[in-house]
Amino acid sequence: MSALPPTVDDSPIWDIWLSQFRLPIINVNCEVGTFAALSDGAYSTDDLAQELGVDSRALAMHLAALCAMGMVEKRLGQWRATHLARTWLHPEGEGYWGHFCKQIDNNTLLQERLLESLRTGKRPGSAGEGSGDVTERPAEWERGTMSAEAAQGIATFMHAHSQAPALGAAAQPVFGTLGSLMDVGCGSGVYGIEIARANPGLKVVLMDLKEMATEAQKFVDRAGMGAQVTTAGVNMFTEEWRRGHHGHFFSNVFHDWSDETNRLLAKKSFDALPSGGRIFLNEILMDDEGTGPFPAAAFSLLMLVGTLGKQYSLPEFRDILESAGFTQVSAERTGGGYYSLVSAVKP
Ligand SMILES: C[S@@+](CC[C@H](N)C(=O)[O-])C[C@H]1O[C@@H](n2cnc3c(N)ncnc32)[C@H](O)[C@@H]1O
Repeated sequence: MSALPPTVDDSPIWDIWLSQFRLPIINVNCEVGTFAALSDGAYSTDDLAQELGVDSRALAMHLAALCAMGMVEKRLGQWRATHLARTWLHPEGEGYWGHFCKQIDNNTLLQERLLESLRTGKRPGSAGEGSGDVTERPAEWERGTMSAEAAQGIATFMHAHSQAPALGAAAQPVFGTLGSLMDVGCGSGVYGIEIARANPGLKVVLMDLKEMATEAQKFVDRAGMGAQVTTAGVNMFTEEWRRGHHGHFFSNVFHDWSDETNRLLAKKSFDALPSGGRIFLNEILMDDEGTGPFPAAAFSLLMLVGTLGKQYSLPEFRDILESAGFTQVSAERTGGGYYSLVSAVKP
């Protein structure tokens, strides 16, 4: 077999798939008038949203991506178009690229979904059964149940996406200090499996909706990790969590949900942990200013069109975690692609 074992850095692959957002972001912002407005004046996000008649939360995600692409900049909380965008993306400019970009972009489905969500602030309606659009899939778990076929699809999809960052997370020494860990919303279980493999003294429970826990069990069996890793079918919102774990690990879970829902999840974790227990959030973080970086901003737009969430910054997570009672909030890049591990302690 010529396939190589995975390493922790797969960021070039992430760059390839996230690059599909670049042109639609430009086109959607030409359409709503972002570049014209920001060439003529400086605006806060809320004022610009009002001027353009779009949703402020969605606009903030677009501005972060545009900033990372060098099209806008933020100074003292006010956005402006850069010289580049004023020259080439102003609709009245001699060199307006907008007409070209609009015609060359074949990703009309993504463009339409980005435009609709920017205008309404809401996830666009389903693209239709069997369209193959992966952004339809998360809606499955929002019902609190899913078919075995959907669970299998999501598990394999998430496994590919999470293998490298799971190795990065597993290398973090903090897991060696714990006796037991619950991987909440585990998907294929790749994180819990790799963290357990790297820490032979650690017991891990993979927790997800029961259909997904069944899938995760297959990954545990395939990895030969059954002595250390078990699975539990639990609805994290409606059912009790097993107590006694020293840590709760959430990867790519908070980014699926609103600020309000995340506060409930953080509180549920806080209540189930012992004093001294830790919560971990493994996520691609926005920078503190909401100005990028591009992978986080583009991933956030995927969350906007496909889930109820977004990519959060560390200050936003700190606020959510502290509101539940956690202290000592910190974050570190794990080396697993673009991911960071946020951690906090129950006093
Ligand atoms: C984006 S995936 C993340 C999977 C995995 N942690 C990873 O990073 O690869 C979100 C996971 O949350 C799970 N989930 C959603 N709602 C849930 C609920 N109510 N209870 C338990 N798990 C849930 C989904 O089934 C899915 O596996």
